[in-house]
Amino acid sequence: MEPHFIEWLNLAIRWVHVITGIAWIGASFYFVWLENNLQRQVNDSPLAGELWAIHGGGIYHLQKYRLAPPAMPERLHWFKWEAYATWLSGILLLVVVYYLNASAYLVLPGGSVSALMAVVLGIASLFAGWLVYDGLCNSPLRHQPMLLGIVLGLLLVLAAWALSQFMSGRGAYIHMGAIMGTMMVGNVFFVIMPAQRHLVGAIEAGREPDPDLPKTGLLRSRHNNYLTLPVLFIMVSNHFPSTYGSGYNWLILAVLSLLSVGVRHYFNTRHQNQRMLWALPVAVLGLMVLAFITSPQKPLVATTDNNVQVKVDIDIQKVQQIVAEHCTVCHGASPSHEAFAVAPGGLLLDTPEQMQRQASRIYQQAVATHIMPLGNMTGMTEMERELLGQWIIAGAPLMHE
Ligand code: HEC
Repeated sequence: MEPHFIEWLNLAIRWVHVITGIAWIGASFYFVWLENNLQRQVNDSPLAGELWAIHGGGIYHLQKYRLAPPAMPERLHWFKWEAYATWLSGILLLVVVYYLNASAYLVLPGGSVSALMAVVLGIASLFAGWLVYDGLCNSPLRHQPMLLGIVLGLLLVLAAWALSQFMSGRGAYIHMGAIMGTMMVGNVFFVIMPAQRHLVGAIEAGREPDPDLPKTGLLRSRHNNYLTLPVLFIMVSNHFPSTYGSGYNWLILAVLSLLSVGVRHYFNTRHQNQRMLWALPVAVLGLMVLAFITSPQKPLVATTDNNVQVKVDIDIQKVQQIVAEHCTVCHGASPSHEAFAVAPGGLLLDTPEQMQRQASRIYQQAVATHIMPLGNMTGMTEMERELLGQWIIAGAPLMHE
């Protein structure tokens, strides 16, 4: 398809996805906050609790019923379309960005899995994720929420590892996001909404609702709440090549997710006690450790033992050839690659001066990590990366210097 048209399609769907995602997660955060901050009623009141709040210049008074209000209100607000619209737009985006251009964005360069196969396995992973998750939630494990959480966490790490074996870093990350997003929306569609319809149906028919109904969705709703932060990280991870571009990308994702679940747990329990307060400094420390571990290893080619700069013999012409051969099909003033109407990221590498200015970005994406060339479509070799790296470490000199 026309690359310019694809770009605008991408923009439109992404915009919708972000808006609906904010609405969904915002509602999730708000209602979990409400639940945690209710002033509980201890007498025989039909109210579970109530809460006063001020926002936007007005004072609100909210009440939560233990089970059923004395009469059904005329207007009852439901929260479901935020979830469905987020998932639908997310799947569309997955198709437009990753599946329509699978050889560039989805496939692990140099791997043996074809583009079509990667797409099929990617779609299968979404179904498998939901079936395994739902099965575990309905198994006896549901009586031990902590153990269930640990098992789910380990299975998700296993899935991330498995995906990273045949998908690009970005592909594997976005599929982990899609697997978790599918679990979350599945919870809304298959579990929480039916329970709510039962509750409302019973009240409207004048029957006593099953007192366990409000609990049905609670475990799933909790899971959704804890999954939000890892999913949000994945959605912005695109901008951070040292995470998805690492050889241990699955492990980095696992550690970041664990840290964020700790933070979420602190915010969910802080009204009761401050026992989880340690999760905040641990998260900060964890991020610092990860930043340190993932920092690119620069080979010491341009200095000798006694720290005297030596003149390395770099064939600058060869370096330019490498960039011309492997980068400018996309990163040129008029890219010849059919998927791009303009240079991606606005990054132009046509002239030596442009290359010099972008040297550190080039180092990060084509030497320290192998993210570029995208999908290694131009078949760049280790030797060529090495040479490019040596040129940059030597200070990216121009020919006439
Ligand atoms: C097949 C097309 C293609 C080729 C070939 C290619 N790139 Fe890219 N490059 C892209 C795309 C697409 C992006 C934007 C990625 C994204 O969506 O974030 C990108 C982004 C980048 C960025 C990040 C730009 C930013 O916004 O910070 C750098 C740096 C980069 N490429 C360097 C290179 C280098 C160096 C080469 C050659 C060794 C190369 N690329 C080859 C398609 C390509």
